[in-house]
Amino acid sequence: VDHASSNPYSPLDVAGPRPLDMVRGIRTMLRDPLSWLEQVVADHGDLVALPLPRTPVLLVNTPAGAGRVLRENHPNYTKQTVQYGALSLVTGAGLLTSDGPGWRRHRRVVQPAFHHAGLERVAEATVEAAQGLRRRWDAAGPGTALDADAATMETMLEVVGRSLFADDLAADSQRVVAAVDEALRLVLARARSPLAGLVPSRVPTPSRRRLRRAVATLDEVCAQIVRRRREEPARPAAPDCPASPEQTGNDVLSALLGSGLDDREIRDELVTLVIAGHETVASCLVWTLHLLATDQQAQKHLHAELDEVLAGRTPGWSDVRALVRTRAVIDESLRLYPPAWVISRRAVGADEIDGVAVPAGTLVLISPWLLHRRAQEWPDPRHFDPDRFLTPSAGSGRRDGYLPFGAGPRLCIGREFARTEATLVLAALLRDRAVRHPVDAPEPEVDALVTLRPRGGLPLLLDPR
Ligand code: HEM
Repeated sequence: VDHASSNPYSPLDVAGPRPLDMVRGIRTMLRDPLSWLEQVVADHGDLVALPLPRTPVLLVNTPAGAGRVLRENHPNYTKQTVQYGALSLVTGAGLLTSDGPGWRRHRRVVQPAFHHAGLERVAEATVEAAQGLRRRWDAAGPGTALDADAATMETMLEVVGRSLFADDLAADSQRVVAAVDEALRLVLARARSPLAGLVPSRVPTPSRRRLRRAVATLDEVCAQIVRRRREEPARPAAPDCPASPEQTGNDVLSALLGSGLDDREIRDELVTLVIAGHETVASCLVWTLHLLATDQQAQKHLHAELDEVLAGRTPGWSDVRALVRTRAVIDESLRLYPPAWVISRRAVGADEIDGVAVPAGTLVLISPWLLHRRAQEWPDPRHFDPDRFLTPSAGSGRRDGYLPFGAGPRLCIGREFARTEATLVLAALLRDRAVRHPVDAPEPEVDALVTLRPRGGLPLLLDPR
């Protein structure tokens, strides 16, 4: 940076809170990081310097700034951040946390598993799991609310298990998923939110031994699965994937085995996909159900589409394209409640972000939660309005103002999986049911953990309509 900063607390030449404000705000930052972020931007503007010892930190809340970091000058930004460092204790060098040539090679290898044939398989697994979810609501009895948070979480774990591993691995998939869950819980106990790394104080550390044990279990389960699958006789390959001796099924694991990755690399990608693939979609679904329960008019419009397209049938893969409004409901829900609510990067070299000079080493924070609530791109931003995504102009002009799946080369690899899953679960649940809150239910508080979750769960009723 070749000019002196006017901010006495940061090398970055923009306004921001004083160190004392940070200390005073720690409780809010940890308990309710979304309100904390909103307040910081309200007080200091869309480009904010956060005063931390050692590292310049820039909060970027403009589409142009986000585009600069995630797309235009992406090679200058790595994932060497507190957020991804914590995650990599569990995932190792998987797609979500790695950088550079290693990341590029893995992305090329994993990508084919996310193409068309993979999507159909996912759709099938999703509809089956969604039917199970309906049955759970039915089993609770008429007029009884079910915790939609726990229920969607379990449903999406089931989908991940079924779609990553072939059916014959159902039992193993449960073991992997349970081990991942345990390891992630331990890491989270240390850093409750991705912003916790900003807190220069004694964040309670969990027993490293328990984490090591959980990770060792995870390693062992993955190693067994890979060993067993490598020893299996060949099975028919997916129609549009070239077969190799080890690529015998059409699940993601088969694609990984046929890819030339070694066992450690396969383990890291499996764990990454379990982590990235279930809580995010569950979070999207639980907030979508909440929004529809709150806005009966929007739910009526959705029902009209489901009646027309499905005519009482269970939905399937071939319906997804026609469920235009259902998809718009999901897109709008992802705007208001983006499960991945903060994205972090580290600048390798100096750069300029939306007019602000940043030195090498700067930690950059981009919050889809904040970006998606800017009135400039989203008039009446707090209003739930799926129609925003039904007009032909939707998307244009807000390219980097809508980032539920990130942007640029690190765009979510599971985006189409996620959108297909969420669309089908919603359609399967609501084709002949209506969702509502229990009478006098309070507005749910948003708990910003790895993803956005309703604090203390979200009881919802699913009535026949
Ligand atoms: C609604 C659901 C989902 C949301 C909101 C979401 C969000 C995101 C975001 C924002 C990123 C980029 C992070 C960054 O740039 O720092 C990302 C990356 C990623 N996501 Fe998702 N995701 C979802 C579902 C899924 C699913 C279903 C899978 C896999 C089965 C998945 C796998 C991944 C992977 C592997 C990456 C890293 C990609 C790379 O860097 O090459 N995600 N996701």
